[in-house]
Amino acid sequence: MTLPVYRTIADMRAQVAAWKADGLRVGLVPTMGALHDGHLSLIGEIAPHCDRIITSIFVNPTQFAAHEDLDTYPRNEAADLAKLENSKANCVFAPGVAEMYPNGFTTALRLDGPANGLESETRPHFFAGVALIVNKLLSQTQADIAIFGEKDYQQLRVIRRMVRDLDLPVEILGGPIIREADGLAMSSRNVYLTDAERPIAAKLNGILKTLAQSTAPREMAEAEAHAALLSAGFTAVDYATIRDADTLAVPDDSTRARRALIVARLGDVRLLDNMAAI
Ligand code: PAF
Repeated sequence: MTLPVYRTIADMRAQVAAWKADGLRVGLVPTMGALHDGHLSLIGEIAPHCDRIITSIFVNPTQFAAHEDLDTYPRNEAADLAKLENSKANCVFAPGVAEMYPNGFTTALRLDGPANGLESETRPHFFAGVALIVNKLLSQTQADIAIFGEKDYQQLRVIRRMVRDLDLPVEILGGPIIREADGLAMSSRNVYLTDAERPIAAKLNGILKTLAQSTAPREMAEAEAHAALLSAGFTAVDYATIRDADTLAVPDDSTRARRALIVARLGDVRLLDNMAAI
C-alpha cells in the first residue's frame, strides 16, 4: 500500500476531519525528514496512544539562522517515504515552504522560561522557530497527541511549556533517545561526521554518564566533563551541565529531578546528548 502524502493544509485537514468524524484519536510525529531509527521509534511509541498517526516532514526555515545548514540539511523524501511505508504511520504531511509561510507571513512567538540559555546561547533564533512551526502543525493537524524525542530535551521542555501556557488541546509525549551500538545518540546530522570524527563522537555518551552520576559538587562535575570532552578530541564544548529537569534552570532547593545535558562540537557538527542525573 502506498502511504498517502498530503501537501496542502486543506487536504490534511480533510483527512483529519474524516478520522475525527469516526471518533478516532489522531497522533502527530513532527520531523524534518532524514528519518532514522530514532524517528521510527517515535512512531512506535505514539502508536498505543492513538488510532491514526500523521508523520510530518518539513525542514523549517524559521529555526535556522542565516549561517546555519538550511540549504545543506539532509533531505531525501523518497528514502523517508520508503521507511514510513514499513511503519505504523497512516499518512505523511509534507507541505512546501510557501504553504507553511505564505507571502506576508509576519507572526512570531516570544518565549521565556525553559527556552532561556543552553541552546539559545548559540542559537538565539531556534526555539521561536520551533515553537512557531509546532504550533502551526498542531493547529493544521488538530492532533490529540504529539511526540518529541528526548534527545532534544530542551525543545521538549519548551514545547510542553508552550502547550500548557497556550492551553493547546494536545497531549505531549517524550520519546526515549535511540542510540547507535556504541552509544552515540541517533541524529540526522550524524551523517556529517567524518570517519576520523565518528569514534570521538561515540565518547560523548560515556562522559555524559559520568557527569550524570557524579557525586562531586555540581560546578566541579561540570568542569570535569568539560575537560574530559576536550581531551577526548571534541573541538569545542557549548555546554556540559546539570539542570533542573523541568525548568532547565540551575538546580536549587526546589529542584525535584536533575538532568545532565551536553552539547559538544566536532568541527562544524554539534552533538547533543542528555540523561537523568542523580
Ligand atoms: O526536532 C525536530 O526535528 C524539529 O525541531 C521539529 C520539532 C520537527 C520542528 O521543526
